[in-house]
Amino acid sequence: MAKPKTSFYCQNCGAQHSKWQGQCNSCKEWNTLVEEVLEKADKQGWKSPATAAVKKIAKPLRISEIETSREERLNTNNQELDRVLGGGIVPGSLTLLGGEPGIGKSTLLLQISLNLNYKTLYVSGEESQQQIKMRAQRINPESNNCFILTETKTQNIFSQIEKLEPEIVIIDSIQTLHSDYIESGPGSISQIRECTAELIKFAKETATPVILIGHITKEGSIAGPKVLEHMVDTVLQFEGDRNHVYRILRANKNRFGSTNELGIYEMQGNGLREVSNPSEILISKNDEELSGTAIAATLEGMRPLMIEIQALVSSAVYGTPQRSATGYNAKRLNMLLAVLEKRAGFRLGAKDVFLNITGGISVDDPALDLAVVAAILSSNEDIAVPKDICLAAEVGLAGEVRPVTRIEQRILEAEKLGFSTIVVSTQSKLPKNNFIIKIQRVSKIEDVVSFLFG
Ligand code: TYD
Ligand code: MG
Repeated sequence: MAKPKTSFYCQNCGAQHSKWQGQCNSCKEWNTLVEEVLEKADKQGWKSPATAAVKKIAKPLRISEIETSREERLNTNNQELDRVLGGGIVPGSLTLLGGEPGIGKSTLLLQISLNLNYKTLYVSGEESQQQIKMRAQRINPESNNCFILTETKTQNIFSQIEKLEPEIVIIDSIQTLHSDYIESGPGSISQIRECTAELIKFAKETATPVILIGHITKEGSIAGPKVLEHMVDTVLQFEGDRNHVYRILRANKNRFGSTNELGIYEMQGNGLREVSNPSEILISKNDEELSGTAIAATLEGMRPLMIEIQALVSSAVYGTPQRSATGYNAKRLNMLLAVLEKRAGFRLGAKDVFLNITGGISVDDPALDLAVVAAILSSNEDIAVPKDICLAAEVGLAGEVRPVTRIEQRILEAEKLGFSTIVVSTQSKLPKNNFIIKIQRVSKIEDVVSFLFG
């Protein structure tokens, strides 16, 4: 028998190699290559009756000649999701929803399927129909549009789809699917790639939107190849602490909308509740105001993020004061302390200073400077910075407060998260937007001190 055709895939980044080697050429990780059998002979996947007969060959068209089918988006009856998607589900689009186990991915999509006004097929490879029924009864027992299929073979799923003709298809999860045309096991990179490709073909040819659930790895990226994220139109991330009730839905990639929106949910006994006024989250944590903390409006890549900074300033016990920073550049901390000493007259030279960015994240954004300064001064003076104030500005060597990039996005995020005031530089160029949030402009450290501590 002829040897089956095989290929080696990196389990970390998905790069394909023709022979085994210890290190991946692409991501430089060691021992990540795994052999997978490819069987490409009579590869088919989704075959729509129409296109199977008439073989269409794509022709180049002038952009003006292309018909604009008015993008009728499907409303999900879930405002937070609609907003994150950019106004509803686009027909024929593929959306990938990633998140940690137990965070509520299946709950969110089942809840949406149950509340949709469209005929929906929910394909589960993870739970039995009875388990899904039990879950559905907790969420919304009255639903007639949602069909449940427990199946993992794509060919069988497609034959059911042909009979049922659903308007939306949900797959829980892409890692459990397998296609007959690939021999390696479910969850392997070539299977994920193949099943996604078949689903894309189906979605684009029938204009049926497909939503996939994807598992994520320990490192927090979606399990499977990075190409999966390239293949789909939209990548949503469902995040939050499993021990807390709040969940955040973000778009990491969106071909049909912005990636700046976020949706907030609260996990309850009967499913996920949409949190339309996110300040309730902040207020619930607000019972105690502590000195030494300040909140910075930062950007992590493209995404705005509110970060809490904690500082502890105390008299040095030993001769040389200690300076330590977790999640923040220690040199930058020393620079800010020198600026406070020299330009604003605070005697910090003989004090120990500890700085910590909560949540164990590490951030490299100059906009953190002002919040770091505020946290240090708050601890030094033992006066709390009000919890509904956040800051976004860089501090220069002369003690001047400098503007930072994309200030509008930071202000909008602060406003969305329910802050009452954001402190920015006087030089920040603000759009003529009517913000609800109060914008406090400062030009020097002294202005910040007098604004925050009177
Ligand atoms: P699930 O959707 O199964 O997570 P995932 O698919 O991301 O792995 O979420 C399960 C968690 O949600 C589980 O810990 C129980 C909780 N939950 C509720 O609190 N209320 C509910 O109504 C439901 C259905 C689940
Ligand atoms: Mg699940």
